[in-house]
Amino acid sequence: MALRSASDPGDTPFDGRLLSPVIGLEIRGLRLDGPLTKAVVAGLKAAFLRHHVLVIRGQDLTPEQQIAFAEAMGEPDIYPFVAGIDGYPVITPVIKEPEETQNFGGVWHTDTAYLKCPPAATMLLAREIPPTGGDTLFASQVAAYDALSDGMKALLAPLRGLNTSAKANQIRTNVSEKRKCESLEAEHPVVRTHPETGAKALYVNTGHTVKFDGMTEAESAPLLEFLFAHQVQPDFTCRVRWEQGTLVIWDNRASQHFPLNDYQGYRREMHRITLKGDAPF
Ligand code: SIN
Repeated sequence: MALRSASDPGDTPFDGRLLSPVIGLEIRGLRLDGPLTKAVVAGLKAAFLRHHVLVIRGQDLTPEQQIAFAEAMGEPDIYPFVAGIDGYPVITPVIKEPEETQNFGGVWHTDTAYLKCPPAATMLLAREIPPTGGDTLFASQVAAYDALSDGMKALLAPLRGLNTSAKANQIRTNVSEKRKCESLEAEHPVVRTHPETGAKALYVNTGHTVKFDGMTEAESAPLLEFLFAHQVQPDFTCRVRWEQGTLVIWDNRASQHFPLNDYQGYRREMHRITLKGDAPF
């Protein structure tokens, strides 16, 4: 695994700080509430591909401004299970009320891997955050893949995994019981190739993957359990501490995330937009 120095965020037209050697770039002093120059958009796209997660501080955006930024970065998509906020179907509210005990997506996962074409990216804008807690962890699946032995890489190369929304039911809040009964499934390669960088990344996750194609769940379990533990080791991760107005955009083709549920009794509200992706190969 090639490690970069903590002071080397790469060449960017903005002020960036690495959150860890393998994943995450924090950006301050950039305004997304107006038109962006071509150089800034190109710099953000390059940084996104290189660091997998961009944490852009201080973005008190209107819904229109959030959508405009999403359109600069890709093509906004619709989340299949939760309706958008009033007047803005592409913005999904991710809310945990003080009396709720479960949070949205509260296990390690990559977004909606049960779709034929899962989103390339997800963007979350922090509208209201708890006084402490509610951080989100991210793990580089490129670093996780790179760290495997050649023997394991060869074993995984031909495998495909079955991903189902049913496994994620317990981590989907804001969804009616009727909609939770609807199950979406997709089979994807266990190791995917990033369509823009060519990097290989692990593409199974504990929230959605139930078995390998051509095997039973029991036969698949030992190897899946190994991968689920391996792919989120601390060396592959960074931690995002939200501030109100923090906007994070992450690459679902190269990372996983885990929103921590350690803020019982407090409210947390995020506005989420996903960007369309291709079928993994
Ligand atoms: C998600 O999994 O999309 C939500 C992440 C978060 O709430 O931090």
